[in-house]
Amino acid sequence: MHTSFQIGQVDPRVFGGFLEHMGRAVYQGVYEPGSPHADEKGFRKDVLKALRELEMTVMRYPGGNFASGYHWPDGVGPKDHRPKIRELAWQSVEPNQFGTDEYITLCRDTGWTPMLTVNLGTGTAEEARNWVEYCNSVPGTRYADMRAANGSTDPHAVKLWCLGNEMDGPWQLGHVPADQYAIRAQQAAKMMKDVDRSIELVVCGSCNTGLPTYIEWDRQVLEYIGGLADYISLHRYVGNRDDDTPDFLAVGNAIDRQIAEIDAVCRYVQAKQRSNKRAYLCFDEWNVWYKNRSGNGEGQFAPHLSEEVYNLEDALVVAGFLNSFVRHADVVKIANIAQIVNVISPLLTRDDKLLVQSTFYPFAMFSKRKNGASLQMIVDGPKYTAKTYGEAHYVDASAILDKDQLHLFAVNRSLSQEAVVEIELVGARIAALENGECLTGTSPKSANSFEKPDVVRPRLFTEAKIANGKARVALPPLSVTAMTLSLAG
Ligand code: AHR
Repeated sequence: MHTSFQIGQVDPRVFGGFLEHMGRAVYQGVYEPGSPHADEKGFRKDVLKALRELEMTVMRYPGGNFASGYHWPDGVGPKDHRPKIRELAWQSVEPNQFGTDEYITLCRDTGWTPMLTVNLGTGTAEEARNWVEYCNSVPGTRYADMRAANGSTDPHAVKLWCLGNEMDGPWQLGHVPADQYAIRAQQAAKMMKDVDRSIELVVCGSCNTGLPTYIEWDRQVLEYIGGLADYISLHRYVGNRDDDTPDFLAVGNAIDRQIAEIDAVCRYVQAKQRSNKRAYLCFDEWNVWYKNRSGNGEGQFAPHLSEEVYNLEDALVVAGFLNSFVRHADVVKIANIAQIVNVISPLLTRDDKLLVQSTFYPFAMFSKRKNGASLQMIVDGPKYTAKTYGEAHYVDASAILDKDQLHLFAVNRSLSQEAVVEIELVGARIAALENGECLTGTSPKSANSFEKPDVVRPRLFTEAKIANGKARVALPPLSVTAMTLSLAG
């Protein structure tokens, strides 16, 4: 590595989360007025305390697929006037007791930056525009006055807005072909920006590399919407369906490739339109998700949906996603792990208990070290050939330079071999290992449970030999290590 070979500043918004009205994410997740853990607003203090440790930045809401059938006016105003509805994305009952104002309060309490997804499935451009006014305008007009009457004279100041969700997916409520979505998105974007010029918009890109419309959807939508799109979204859920751990751990190759391909479309459209404006990437859903795909709430309120249990190999894959985002700091500006509690999440609640899952730890290890510039890195070491994802280094890594500190993140994908790594930086000398953490275990399938909550937990990482301005560390097999090294000139 060279201190001057910088890919770009890591945008802190890459460490975002996603809260959807799905399963028990909202109700029995962040919000449960009847819980012994509830604060005076009904938020679960135990859940929020754990989430604060993740130092998440942006928080996407209210969906997801849920957003495509959601009408935001249902979720504001006196709670006893809000309708209870049958929602169709997850076939559940939505009582609307948590809506825009509760979400904004939650964001203020936690320090999250709000990020709202408008309904471009069954909703209209006008409804989207009205939501911007509700959130961002000063009192004096209808929707801003409505907000003030609901208790917030000051605007909520929501800067980030998604123009629908996964509109390329045939499962999406109101799904239409790319040319029709592009018209909807352009009309909504124009009206939303007419209300508030300062907002930033995320247009729906391809949500799945396997869809036949992949890439072509992105091109069509970007060409039509032009400079109104500040970002284009991409999603990725991965899994170890064939129970092939080395292959699964190499999935980072596919994530790198997906980022490169979507970025290529952005550049293509920018060049074709001779535009100064470039759409950046918003990876607003990503995670491991394959063991529990339940999505039918069968008419229940807060059903148990997609309560995936995570193990060590999943945690290493989560670290691989984050490595990839750091390595692409020049183009990936926002990313949201999907989701934050109960639904495909690092946290699970059961009555008044809370379980911290394996995937919590890599996110925390990266997030506390997120400030600085991503450095170009050459990993020179042994490789293997994964069945699906091709040639992969055993060590997958990224690095962030923050003044006189170097944050280093490394996954050792080997199931059996320690990786002895020499870290060399041109432009500065490594002086000391300031701190480090390592998450590892004996089996890729090791997982925490309510009965045994501490099976997968990071330990301190203190072993580094520093000599001649270089560091030498040994990474255990099947591990993710995050460390901060202090630098001298
Ligand atoms: O995060 C769960 C779901 O996955 C989201 O609602 C949807 O956008 C995606 O398909």
